[in-house]
Amino acid sequence: MSRGSRLLGMALAVLVLASVAAASAAAAPEQPSEPFFPRSGNRGYDVEHYDVSLGYQPRSGMLTARDVIEARATSGLSKFSLDLDGLKVTSVGVDGEAAEYTRGRGKVKVVPATRIAKGEAFTVELRYQGVPRKVIDPDGSPEGWYRTKDGAVGVGEPVGTAAWLACNNAPRDKASLDIQISVPAGVKAVSNGRLVSREKVGGRVRWSWSEPQPMATYLALVDIGRGRLVQGRVGKLPTWTLIDPKLAKASRAAIASLPAIIRWESHIYGPYPFSAAGSVVDVADLEYALETQSRPIYAFAPDRTTVVHETAHQWFGDSVSLERWPNIWLNEGLATWTQWYFAEQHGGRSAQQVFAELYRRPASATGFWNPPPGHPGQAKNLFAVSTYVRGAMTLQALRDKIGTHELLRILRSWATEHRYANGDIEEFMALAERVSGERLRGFFQRWLFERGKP
Ligand code: ARG
Ligand code: ZN
Repeated sequence: MSRGSRLLGMALAVLVLASVAAASAAAAPEQPSEPFFPRSGNRGYDVEHYDVSLGYQPRSGMLTARDVIEARATSGLSKFSLDLDGLKVTSVGVDGEAAEYTRGRGKVKVVPATRIAKGEAFTVELRYQGVPRKVIDPDGSPEGWYRTKDGAVGVGEPVGTAAWLACNNAPRDKASLDIQISVPAGVKAVSNGRLVSREKVGGRVRWSWSEPQPMATYLALVDIGRGRLVQGRVGKLPTWTLIDPKLAKASRAAIASLPAIIRWESHIYGPYPFSAAGSVVDVADLEYALETQSRPIYAFAPDRTTVVHETAHQWFGDSVSLERWPNIWLNEGLATWTQWYFAEQHGGRSAQQVFAELYRRPASATGFWNPPPGHPGQAKNLFAVSTYVRGAMTLQALRDKIGTHELLRILRSWATEHRYANGDIEEFMALAERVSGERLRGFFQRWLFERGKP
């Protein structure tokens, strides 16, 4: 949830939620596939797995990395590139042979000793180190690597992951992740998925995490800091939660509602997609929460509706990922509508009341209605208020048109049919028409793509 939507969310909270709270494709074909970030990602190959070992020194901020990437060529490759923003590369190997490499802006350009044929599987091993940088997004928000008083946070929506992980940094290329993080004893290191082991090595501790389900690179998480790592369960699902002691009290109630939220969302959207869950709450000036896969991070003490939002992203965004960034409505619109519906189902105002209240905004409130959620136009508008709020209103208007049962069938089918994969708005609209049996093109055109008040 972005700061803008949090602020708007707060304004609405009084009204709406108070009652609930009581409760460069080198050598690869060049396609303009990622219009907002044309320099990110490479279409010449597809990553299947990242095996990453990080060592971190909180005092100096120094990161040492070994990154083993298993990929498959989607075209013949005499050279290829990976995204890495800053840091010093010390070696690159391809299939066990040393490879030549150069750096370009945000890139490592690799020339393997032997050309890789189309369809061939290959392994890249990179070693790099340095003090990773904080990245400022097109909308002014910080991401990338962020130093905190007691450690660091590594996050990456939309493109900050490349500040600490050499990767194919585009949401369409999802891959599983095994990550080991070695830190001084006394701080914890948390990432995505399950905790596999925790080993003492000298005065340091090596934390091994594994996320076996495919993950978009922007959903990778590293959180290093103090606090108690608490393990729990939601049914058979293991959870790991790390809360900064400074935020423990203020976040307790909302974090404690995660099991109930997972159960409720599983009930309406289908089985929880991942093999672990949990939360990270850390004091970091990130100003937002992020739906890092299996374990969202909150840079403040969240309220329950924010936990509902980030948990909804586990279905919409994480399991079903964007084909490309301009499709952001499929993430933020769906997660925000889930907040409204959750409130309605838990003694709060109905989503229709929220909608009616918001729909009174005059057409002249252009910053509220624009950009249209299906067409953000520029990278700096990805997390605009309209992406979230008009985005959720779109779903509520659809519900009003076709009924609750049909809307939920659409959302559930979306989660099921694109599970662990990608989807775009075109596919969503087609699915909505197929599932509901109604013609919805005109409706979507007005709500998602036309400027101004629909
Ligand atoms: N996806 C996050 C959410 O749950 C917001 C991320 C905001 N990032 C940014 N660069 N502004 O809503
Ligand atoms: Zn969101």
